[in-house]
Amino acid sequence: MGMCWLHGGEEDRRAGFDDDGVEGQVMGGNDESSSSFPIGQTAQERGFSHVPECYKVQLSDRAGLDTKLADVPLINLDGICDPARRSIIVEEIANACRCNGFFQVVNHGISQPILDGALSTASDFFNLPIQDKAKFMSNDVHNPVRYGTSLKDGVDKVQFWRIFLKQYAHPLHDWIGLWPDTPPDYRQKMGEYAVAVQKLAVKIMEAITESLGLGPTYLTSKLDDGMQVLAVNCYPPCPQPELSLGLPPHSDYSCLTIVLQDSPGLQILDFEDKTWKAVPAMQGVLQVHVGDHLEVLSNGKYESAVHKVTLNSEKTRFSIVSLHSLGMDVKMEAAKELVDEDHPNGYRESSFRDFLNFISKNDIGEGSSFLNTLKI
Ligand code: OGA
Ligand code: NI
Repeated sequence: MGMCWLHGGEEDRRAGFDDDGVEGQVMGGNDESSSSFPIGQTAQERGFSHVPECYKVQLSDRAGLDTKLADVPLINLDGICDPARRSIIVEEIANACRCNGFFQVVNHGISQPILDGALSTASDFFNLPIQDKAKFMSNDVHNPVRYGTSLKDGVDKVQFWRIFLKQYAHPLHDWIGLWPDTPPDYRQKMGEYAVAVQKLAVKIMEAITESLGLGPTYLTSKLDDGMQVLAVNCYPPCPQPELSLGLPPHSDYSCLTIVLQDSPGLQILDFEDKTWKAVPAMQGVLQVHVGDHLEVLSNGKYESAVHKVTLNSEKTRFSIVSLHSLGMDVKMEAAKELVDEDHPNGYRESSFRDFLNFISKNDIGEGSSFLNTLKI
């Protein structure tokens, strides 16, 4: 029973609903979006006063309200090109990748106006009338630009309190023509950020491969020729934030993910004590996650960060998540240099397309993980 969407109607009419305001429905229609939720009709879009059953996540995944603030390493990238300073930064990045799978960066070279511009045009996009967003609605995870209210609308069993626009972004001129052209500054503002964050990802990845003993240019050309996916996320206020999640616990398929958030909500699973810790949101600071494909490259030396998104009842949260990987069909495998008798190869090779094929058949947040399919 994958279907879970909400009847049309002007308000939250509980009478007549079977199941805490939610009713399983199979939609008619014959177009591609026939299995999608009707846009504008899901609980998170309609400002419900309660959380419908299909948005409730299992107890162990729920957001602890007493969650501790994470002691996330904050790395100052200023001087990364200066040899004396670089070795210190590389060391800090190595420690953070090994111990946390996660760190924050400042002095990353992306100006505050570019960060603010991307977040504000994202917010303007989600505030557009339904018809301007509906044309991007799709359940096909292979689509280069895709709007949705669930990972696969109308198909996934558990729903999350998120609305998103995912868009391929690198190289920009290949994709920008497919992006929304409203709000009028969307392409320019989001494009500026996309280009800047792609450059930053390569710079950070160079420090990471250096820290693995592979040298700074080990992956540079493959990332320059690789994929960048921007997930532009909107998390509306949730009436009972402790019952639902914006995103379930997961790791990203990417090599590297860079997150820009306008307010707190991101939590990471501590490698040491296995508890959830809230990531602070500081102006101008970007979050960097180790992704599954970096875990593979490092042959398990750097594990991918498990994270989730919690909700609040007051404020809409926006984030722009940039996922960097190799080309669509380029396989990532453990670096030969990191495989030996003591460290046998622990991972199967895989590409971004392999991930898309996996996700098109599996729900996230149901215990299925792409990374687990790669482990030998
Ligand atoms: C993601 C993700 C975090 C956030 O899109 O994969 O983890 O803060 N997002 O939105
Ligand atoms: Ni993620």
